[in-house]
Amino acid sequence: MPDAQIGGGRIHWREAGAGNAVLLLHAFPLSSVMWQPQLDTLPGDHHWIAPDTRGFGESAATGALSMDGIADDVAGLLDHLGHERATVCGVSMGGYIAFAFLRRHRERVGALVLSDTRATADDAAGKLARRISSERVRADGSAAIVAQMLERLVSPETRERRPATYAKVRAMLEQADPASFARAQAAMAARPDSSELLPTIDVPTLVVTGQVDAIIGPEVARGMSRAIPDARLEVIEGAGHLPNVERPDRFNPVLVEFIESIRS
Ligand code: MLT
Repeated sequence: MPDAQIGGGRIHWREAGAGNAVLLLHAFPLSSVMWQPQLDTLPGDHHWIAPDTRGFGESAATGALSMDGIADDVAGLLDHLGHERATVCGVSMGGYIAFAFLRRHRERVGALVLSDTRATADDAAGKLARRISSERVRADGSAAIVAQMLERLVSPETRERRPATYAKVRAMLEQADPASFARAQAAMAARPDSSELLPTIDVPTLVVTGQVDAIIGPEVARGMSRAIPDARLEVIEGAGHLPNVERPDRFNPVLVEFIESIRS
């Protein structure tokens, strides 16, 4: 897995193909492992780049986290790889990073894919829930929240019919570093509302949602796709919060078709 010194920390990423860049930004508290079903099979005529956020996967944990700081790391990675622009594809926390990237590096965004994410900031209850789960993980380790998170991350169909996928998500949760877990929760709690950005988005945009996403419901995706000019909405059947992991057979063709439509 390649790595480079970026923005004061060691950042690792997975990659495949060559050509125009497509950034694949992972969900919380997972890692670039979640993009393996795409990296293994998507056409090689694009450069698919899946970084590990600081403190997750194999990237070093260095100091406090913020969505802006992570977006700057991503921009630094594009510089390192020689890409001026990219299609930015983020799932959930990856989407929050995509919004920060859009705010800070707008000229570098060629297109957007927003999967199972939201533009709004946390309310007071959401911030409190993050504090409570961080305290639990700090006290008892990541294993303490695995069962509760797994229940909400994937669909009942994935739990019952896709044991290998379920096991992969469980392994990523178990590997989450408790300190980075807490830092990322604090960073997400502090993220600004991006709703006002939506009507200003002027690049091709695809909004994706799992049909039964229990964390960010499909109605949020519907609202977001209506607020972004000319955005397309795709609902991935049988998937929960992680459609690219749960149903790559459905997600991959949707992503490829979108990318091809930008090119033509
Ligand atoms: C994620 O999957 O990245 C999280 O559900 C995002 C969040 O906690 O808001």
